[in-house]
Amino acid sequence: MEETLRFDTSSQMVLRVTRTPLEIHGQAIPEGGRVLLLIGSANRDGTVFPDPDRYDLDRDTSRLVSFGSGRHFCMGAPLARLEARIGLGELVERVASYDIDPDGIERVHSTNVRGLAAIPTSVKLR
Ligand code: HEM
Repeated sequence: MEETLRFDTSSQMVLRVTRTPLEIHGQAIPEGGRVLLLIGSANRDGTVFPDPDRYDLDRDTSRLVSFGSGRHFCMGAPLARLEARIGLGELVERVASYDIDPDGIERVHSTNVRGLAAIPTSVKLR
């Protein structure tokens, strides 16, 4: 779950407005500047996650920012993690195998939300 949250980050970006002038990585940002923080990109930062484009279930994901950071950290993160854990657990318990029709896959049309609107799947129950 954690590596999927990192690798295929569902909320791609958040916006902030600066309250004071800032300098970040040599770039001056004036007061009232709008800064788009790219969470999806941060989760692929190779200085934090070695070989970041590799989906690696054994990697250290403790520094992922999929639920934001700081005082606006996602209030629903524990619920989202719980739902995913229960959903995956139920799937593994009930489904012996599955087949996905790649031609029917539809992405969510959003600049921020990354995910699937449709993923036609036939399943073989246990
Ligand atoms: C995979 C699922 C989810 C993802 C990826 C996600 C992601 C995020 C992110 C990135 C933020 C930070 C926004 C910012 O800094 O501007 C946020 C905030 C928030 N999320 Fe989520 N979220 C998820 C599920 C949920 C759920 C299930 C709930 C509620 C039931 C929820 C409620 C909230 C609330 C209330 C905030 C605002 C917190 C604040 O501003 O103090 N989220 N979420």
